[in-house]
Amino acid sequence: MDPSAWTAVDEYVAGLLAPHDEALQAALMGSDEGGLPKIQVSPPQGKLLQLLAKIQGARTILEFGTLGGYSTIWLGRALSEGGKLITLESDPQYAEIARANIARAGLGDVVEMRVGPALETLPKLASEGAGPFDFTFIDADKAHSPDYFAWALEHSRPGSMIVADNVVRDGTLADSSSEDPKVQAQRRLHEMLAAEPRVSGTTIQTVGGKGYDGFTLALVSK
Ligand code: SAH
Ligand code: DHB
Ligand code: MG
Repeated sequence: MDPSAWTAVDEYVAGLLAPHDEALQAALMGSDEGGLPKIQVSPPQGKLLQLLAKIQGARTILEFGTLGGYSTIWLGRALSEGGKLITLESDPQYAEIARANIARAGLGDVVEMRVGPALETLPKLASEGAGPFDFTFIDADKAHSPDYFAWALEHSRPGSMIVADNVVRDGTLADSSSEDPKVQAQRRLHEMLAAEPRVSGTTIQTVGGKGYDGFTLALVSK
């Protein structure tokens, strides 16, 4: 299969079903001008996250890995009335750009950013009694995805959904001999899911403008 077709289909789908409005376009431009890496979710993936959060009727969303706030905007728009999104970002310069992008999208009042490595900002969040979160998107440093999943699970309610990005990694997910810590972590995430009676999950492989990768989706038991 020709990877250029993956991009063409992403563009076709995005044009009809996940078009950018001014704020999303400006977020990408602001991120580009700020020199951020172009690793945000694709438009169809952003729309998928938004649909999932809407299915959840989400009033509380937690995001690991803000970057320039592109996925944050898709998710923030899914919040139901009075809802709130907390997004965690380790890089203060990325966070500054994200803050501007999020404000431009009119989401400044409903999105709260916590700046610092997530493992350092999570304890404060816990002590404040944050959550339970209706929807969690895990998309920060992949080596810690299992830790973030464990935290999210403890701060979920029956019916919550947890989604993790970049789990398939060009198919290396299936390589038990991989020495890549990101691959090992995503395999550990799958083992945790398999062993955890409180969740039911699956992983869907994706191709598109971002290459060959995939999402893990987990539903916390009722
Ligand atoms: N969710 C974004 C993309 C996130 S890219 C989108 O789709 O638009 C991953 C982000 O995680 C980067 O911005 C990176 O700085 C951040 N990150 C890396 N390590 C982190 C950590 N320990 N805690 C929080 N964020 C981290
Ligand atoms: C990277 C991070 C992501 O979240 C992603 O979707 C793609 C690439 C990266 O760190 O390279
Ligand atoms: Mg990602």
